Amino acid sequence: MNGKKILIGVCGSIAAYKTAFLIRLLKKQHADVRVVMTPSASGFIAPLTLSTLSKNPALSQFIANDEGEWNNHVELGLWADVFIIAPASANTIAKMANGICDNLLLAVYLSARCPVYVAPAMDLDMYQHSSTQTNMRLLQESGVKMIDAEFGELASGLTGTGRMAEPENIVNLVNDFFSSDRPLQGKNALVTAGPTYEQIDPVRFIGNHSSGKMGVAIANQLMAYGADVKLILGPVNDIFELEGLCVSKVTSADEMYALAKEQFAGADITVLAAAVADYKPRVMADSKIKKNKDNMTLELTKTPDIAASLGKIKSKDQIIAGFALETDNEIENARKKLHSKNFDMIVLNSLKDPGAGFGYDTNKISIIDRDNNTRDYELKSKIGVAKDIVDAIVEKYF
Ligand code: PMT
Repeated sequence: MNGKKILIGVCGSIAAYKTAFLIRLLKKQHADVRVVMTPSASGFIAPLTLSTLSKNPALSQFIANDEGEWNNHVELGLWADVFIIAPASANTIAKMANGICDNLLLAVYLSARCPVYVAPAMDLDMYQHSSTQTNMRLLQESGVKMIDAEFGELASGLTGTGRMAEPENIVNLVNDFFSSDRPLQGKNALVTAGPTYEQIDPVRFIGNHSSGKMGVAIANQLMAYGADVKLILGPVNDIFELEGLCVSKVTSADEMYALAKEQFAGADITVLAAAVADYKPRVMADSKIKKNKDNMTLELTKTPDIAASLGKIKSKDQIIAGFALETDNEIENARKKLHSKNFDMIVLNSLKDPGAGFGYDTNKISIIDRDNNTRDYELKSKIGVAKDIVDAIVEKYF
């Protein structure tokens, strides 16, 4: 759980004392924990106890930031990787199920984009009441994950189901959640992205319109799934979110080739999204070529085919996903590249599809694998496309 951002919600219930243990266990596993409480929760456990254990303030009030915006509910909702409400009272569950938002915890719930877990705690009759059961079902239907209450002695002296799940059991669930969410944990990935520039003279080059968006989105998705990612990025103008990636910036196909060969050995997965120039000037002029003739001929020579060279040396445990950028006979050409470059799968994008290819924030792809399966996808954001590609790799090979 190293560095995982876990938001704990605490409601007014005698089981709130268990939340102190829950926070301790999470902190022991190096999670970053924050706490939000309903107004009545502090009658059961002191905010000071929870803030001392979590090493962060235990919040129950809306607070303005430095700019005077009252948005700590939104900030907390966006910050968290997972939100666990434990204990969750019958009252809070009912409000959540009905979109009621009269305290900070409920506002955070409505703002949260992360998975939400709810660990109910109440007396057995309250737990079994049809209203509570209906509310819990409504929450489940809207994607909330319920952590079943456990059986045992309750604060009322009755015995039955209604105790908040033990902190150890909640921690196990959270651990399962994080590991299932990271199917590429422990894997190494290599991604090429962006264009290459082949110098003609000190001021001119042969290049293309690749922005790097597609490849960077793939690198980020591989990282989100737990892989250690090395990204070889050609010369791009956009500024990207590259935190957590090991990035090498290159300019020419030769530079990209040299680095790719060096970094390929340790890569379990390689995705070649770069638009590598196929030709470069045979010689680069030392000084700016003068415009003193009506016509000029530039002699070009082939650049190294990075994909084909990696395809030749790849072991049976290594997966290569290549791209095909086509304008005609798309499927046929993509299939040829799949086999000639020894890819395991190829992602076809066609410049004929509106919104697909260079520069756009969107792309439209088909994925073809070596068993000749072709899957067509809708036009969507390059971030969504990256998820589809990485999901296809995970589904087939991991
Ligand atoms: O960067 P964006 O603006 O987001 O645009 C994304 C993209 C259109 C560049 C991307 O989706 C894409 O299609 N990348 C591959 C472009 C390309 O060069 O396709 P190709 O069909 O010419 O090459 C086939 C494969 O061989 C590709 O995986 C390519 O990276 C690789 N190749 C090609 C030539 C070469 N010398 N070395 C290579 O490794």
